[in-house]
Parts: sequence; structure tokens; C-alpha cells
Amino acid sequence: MSVDIDELAKRLETQVLEDAKGVFSEMVLEYAYNPRNMGELCYADGVGKITGTCGDTIQIQIRVENERISESRFITDGCGTSIACGSMLTEIVTDKTIEDALAITSEDLLRSLGGLPEENVHCSVLAVDVLREAIRDYRSTLS
Ligand code: FES
Repeated sequence: MSVDIDELAKRLETQVLEDAKGVFSEMVLEYAYNPRNMGELCYADGVGKITGTCGDTIQIQIRVENERISESRFITDGCGTSIACGSMLTEIVTDKTIEDALAITSEDLLRSLGGLPEENVHCSVLAVDVLREAIRDYRSTLS
């Protein structure tokens, strides 16, 4: 019996996506499968990088101009949810003042993503912690 690997991979991908649709919001799937701002800045004013209790690491870099976040990028070795969180969060903080960015909570991020299953809520908490770490790092360079 011959197996068409491409066809099998396509069927598996479709199945995984169908299963995920029953668990995650459309927004989470959109931001996980089509991530925004993924990668690294060639120059960053602040960097946050934290490994959560789940063992996954998220890094967020920010570029700041006139006390406003002009650009932000993230990378993660974590789950699809961490990609969705980094993706959405870097989009939310762009053009925000440092003060407004610091005021963003994991609840805000969850709302923007249309919610997460209980067992994935910690991914949003980790992403927001990483952003705050990046802002702390930025501020440490000012003094
Ligand atoms: S960040 Fe670790 S499970 Fe999502």
C-alpha cells in the first residue's frame, strides 16, 4: 500500500484545525495561524524574556520613540496559544504610550482574543508579564 504523505499531512492539518475550532475562538486561531509581529527587531530599546511554569519561553522586544512603543516583536517556543497571545499583544501595544502599555492586563488580552480555555489562560498572563519585563528593561536604560 502506498501512502501519499502530502495528502496525509493535509488531512491531518484539516482535522487538527477542525478540532481546534471547537476549543478556540476564531480570533485565537487567526492570530495563531497567521501571526503578526513574529520575529526579532534588529534594534530594540527593551527586551523581556520569561520561561513560564509550563516550560515555554516568550520573548518580546519593543522599540520606543517619544515614550510611545513604535514597534514590537515576539518569538516563542511555546504552544499555538502563546503565538496567538504574543501576536495579539504586540499588535495592541503598538502606538501605545509606555504608561498605557503597562496598564494592559491579561484580561484585556483575553478579551481581545475572544477568550481562552481555562487551561490556556496562563499563556496570556505570561505574555503580559513578558511585556512588562521589556518595559522594565527599557526603563532601566534611561537611568
Ligand atoms: S505558554 Fe506554555 S502552554 Fe502556552
